[in-house]
Amino acid sequence: MSSSRPYKLAIIFLDTDKHVSPFEPLAVVDIFPDAFILTYSNVDVEDVKKIVQDAMFPRGPKGVRYTKIFVGGSDVVKVNRIVEVIKQTMFPPFEIAVLVDPRGNNTTAAAAVAKALQLLIKHGYGDLKDKKVTILAGTGPVGFACGVLSALEGAYVTITSRVLERAQDVAQRVNKEVGVERARGVKAASPEEFGKAIEEADVVIATGAPGVRLLTLDVLKQYGKNVKVVVDVNAVPPTGIEGLEPGDEDKEVIPGVYGVGALRVGVLKNSILVELFKKLAETPKGILDYRAAYEVAKTLISKK
Ligand SMILES: NC(=O)c1ccc[n+]([C@@H]2O[C@H](COP(=O)([O-])OP(=O)(O)OC[C@H]3O[C@@H](n4cnc5c(N)ncnc54)[C@H](OP(=O)(O)O)[C@@H]3O)[C@@H](O)[C@H]2O)c1
Repeated sequence: MSSSRPYKLAIIFLDTDKHVSPFEPLAVVDIFPDAFILTYSNVDVEDVKKIVQDAMFPRGPKGVRYTKIFVGGSDVVKVNRIVEVIKQTMFPPFEIAVLVDPRGNNTTAAAAVAKALQLLIKHGYGDLKDKKVTILAGTGPVGFACGVLSALEGAYVTITSRVLERAQDVAQRVNKEVGVERARGVKAASPEEFGKAIEEADVVIATGAPGVRLLTLDVLKQYGKNVKVVVDVNAVPPTGIEGLEPGDEDKEVIPGVYGVGALRVGVLKNSILVELFKKLAETPKGILDYRAAYEVAKTLISKK
């Protein structure tokens, strides 16, 4: 966008939480110091139509192209419903480009899968196509998005949970999102169950809650004969994968198994967010979700 543009960039932040997270507004301050930023907290689904309508019309069909929406917050289900309402409310030529990253989940998942891809390529194992990817504790929003992105890359995905039905439910949602049967759900709570879940895996991504150790070195050594790459997104001790610290980058965790820790995933995640906001500014319409985040992630890792 040239600096001589007649319209100023405006970004409306809709957050489902009591307080708007300062994370994303602060992330754009230095990219677009002249942007007009408007924040709404505690946003409910029924609030959205009016806010969006009021954002669509005042700048006219040309000006609306410079108005953008970011949707965030901890309540992922509500965020998805808000995005649906935004889509239903807009119509040509009054469309607004929307970036969705509830609590950083989409950018984190994109960074985790991209890091796995980067290590596979670096160590001569090719890309994710037909690889087996096990997502430990993959029933949260980060695990779900990792499952979708891995499946979209042509991988076979195993999602684990402490409860079989939860794992199967998320696997089904992944399959529905991707449109092919690529994911399955398995129960993993004991070391043996985690072992079985990684037995055939080429890649293991740990997406458990903060401070939950999921995979020990003993289990990795005993069962992970095919594992080449491990990625952890939990930065809170103990980390999700034993032997993998948050700052580790391409660490040989055990012979032949290379890993990336949560802080290194986080560095890529932050770069993805910055690039996504730049993309948002250039994009006249459409929804930028975890797919867009992953496209940006792949471009970023290819430059390294
Ligand atoms: N760097 C960033 O900006 C960033 C952003 C977002 C997330 N993250 C990190 O990414 C990770 C995943 O985030 P998320 O929001 O998707 O996670 P989440 O929903 O809080 O948890 C993921 C899964 O962990 C399992 N779990 C919870 N407590 C457990 C326990 N005590 N023992 C074993 N398993 C347990 C649950 O699976 P089951 O109940 O099905 O077993 C849950 O669905 C977190 O560590 C988070 O800190 C980082």
